[in-house]
Amino acid sequence: MIFKVSEQVKAIKAYEPGKPLKEVEREYGITHAVKLASNENPFGFSSRIHNAVLDHLNQMNRYPESTAFELTQKLARKFHVENNNIVVGNGSDDVIALLAHAFLNPGDEALMPLPSFLMYEISVLTAKGKPVMVPLTDYSTSLDGILEQISPKTRLVFITNPFNPTGSIITQDQFERFANKVPGDVLIIVDEAYIEFVRDRTVFNSLDKPLADPRIVTLRTFSKAYGLAGFRVGYGIMDIEVAAVLHRIRQPFNVNSLAQVAAVAALEDELFLQQTIKATHVGLDYLISQLTKMGIDCLPTQSNFLMVDLKTDATQVFEEMLSFGVVVRSMKSYGFDTFLRINTGTPKENTTFIKVLKEVLKNRGD
Ligand SMILES: Cc1ncc(COP(=O)(O)O)c(C=O)c1O
Repeated sequence: MIFKVSEQVKAIKAYEPGKPLKEVEREYGITHAVKLASNENPFGFSSRIHNAVLDHLNQMNRYPESTAFELTQKLARKFHVENNNIVVGNGSDDVIALLAHAFLNPGDEALMPLPSFLMYEISVLTAKGKPVMVPLTDYSTSLDGILEQISPKTRLVFITNPFNPTGSIITQDQFERFANKVPGDVLIIVDEAYIEFVRDRTVFNSLDKPLADPRIVTLRTFSKAYGLAGFRVGYGIMDIEVAAVLHRIRQPFNVNSLAQVAAVAALEDELFLQQTIKATHVGLDYLISQLTKMGIDCLPTQSNFLMVDLKTDATQVFEEMLSFGVVVRSMKSYGFDTFLRINTGTPKENTTFIKVLKEVLKNRGD
């Protein structure tokens, strides 16, 4: 190509999304494929959302409200913060990108675990920053490792709690000890995409005391526990001055109006959320007990997904499972060659997964 691509952009590995169901069904000529690959909500979303969205359809000739006013206000009340502490985005992906673009000058460093949710690295590189990746310790975020890598160039630190892909958590004590050693001018981005699923009460939850520390930016999403992945809506809660910078650079209509309406309705249905969380725990416990009976090791998890060690090439197993219409995630590209990551499905999807995994492992004879 004659057009010169920026050096940082050249270094970007494309984000590999979980294989969409429709694509698997087309490729393998099957129907009713099961997807346990993207940590989505298998139970759908609150029934209130259907009517709310349908009622809004005849207004889709208008631009959305730029401030996502009703949603922002609802979130502000829920978390006891002001509207101008909140930045809503086209998924939390959007807020991650805004943070990188707003706070990195060329060559500035952003620390993150290795491996991490890929959008951190992609956003930092597109913002001309330098991602500094810190290997995990025992499948968990190495907070000490991150502290060791802090330099005068560090501007951002990404923490994921609970961690994707392993499901480990950072406790309140661990976070406090860590934060005490992070310089005052470094933003600590705490991505809590899966926090609703955590069962361990020692977890650090940054919104227990919102805005207690101006360095902390909390990221949350409606894509997981609320089941709105297709609507694309997530948000950050942060210091007013930090939020003001993001508001200045965001797209004026970054959250479409159906997403705003859906998220408002989702917040009004606490029962659906609680049912999702309960059913997710039941599903996880079922999967763990079945896998353990099969002699397969699972990493402990505090999320809606779990990593399983098949002690064989995970990508081959992933591909063989696809031909049975079950989509999981091989962790090979994350550096865990023998691990799959699976999220909980409906009870039927979970039993199908176990049945197909048994079949595939039997056929392989490893
Ligand atoms: C850790 C983590 N953060 C953020 C996201 C993105 O969420 P959203 O759909 O809100 O962009 C994901 C999605 O998989 C994730 O795993």
